Amino acid sequence: MTDYTAPQPGLFIAFEGGDGAGKSTQAVLLSKALSDAGATVLRTREPGGTPVGEKLRSLVLDHGQGEIDAKTEALIFAAARAAHASQVITPAIERGDVVISDRYADSSIAYQGAGRGLGTEAIVKLNDWATSGLWPDLTVLLDVSPEAGRHRRTAGDAPEDRLESEPDGFHAAIRATFLALAAAHPQRYLVLPAANTVSELAAAIVERVTALLSERAVQASAQGSSARDSPQGSA
Ligand code: TYD
Repeated sequence: MTDYTAPQPGLFIAFEGGDGAGKSTQAVLLSKALSDAGATVLRTREPGGTPVGEKLRSLVLDHGQGEIDAKTEALIFAAARAAHASQVITPAIERGDVVISDRYADSSIAYQGAGRGLGTEAIVKLNDWATSGLWPDLTVLLDVSPEAGRHRRTAGDAPEDRLESEPDGFHAAIRATFLALAAAHPQRYLVLPAANTVSELAAAIVERVTALLSERAVQASAQGSSARDSPQGSA
């Protein structure tokens, strides 16, 4: 495996997928595999990841907060993301950490853009502005059907939140949007069927992330040596 104890350029990985896809399990496993190999990993989640983001999370996900219309919902998720991007994710990437976020802006494109019908273009623009143009280097999409997702979430004791309890048609629109985003930028996505076993998924994710980290390390060292070779180089 790559030597992560050597200086690494920072990397930003997001996990996305429908409710019940198993993202959180895979985010934990990837984080552990990379930490065990010597990387400095920051695992975080959305909505959340900052004190204001966690407050916004309960505001937007808990039942019983009164009416939250679609635009208000999109702006709450974007506000939480703005804080997360500027206070947590960007500084960590600049330190050279690997940031693993359980959900990011694609969730807003899928849930608010498609699910709530606000339009994916508008949500891309809103989030590009909110994050000052911070998008993941790699998005791992765990693809789950609405039926399988509902089955997996209702197998546990946790009650469904405001978004999870929407009907299957809402979740079908979300799934189609995630897949369309991945198809439009295949080099920035790893799409895996959520029905694969936990260990199969973990192995495929580690393989792809390891390859990406090695590529980035090669690019960083090539840039370092060309800076040293150029007359303006600082060495
Ligand atoms: P989720 O990751 O499912 O949290 P948990 O597994 O702890 O319940 O995220 C919560 C819900 O929020 C999920 O239904 C998706 C929704 N969501 C959006 O609608 N838009 C967003 O931008 C984000 C980040 C999440």
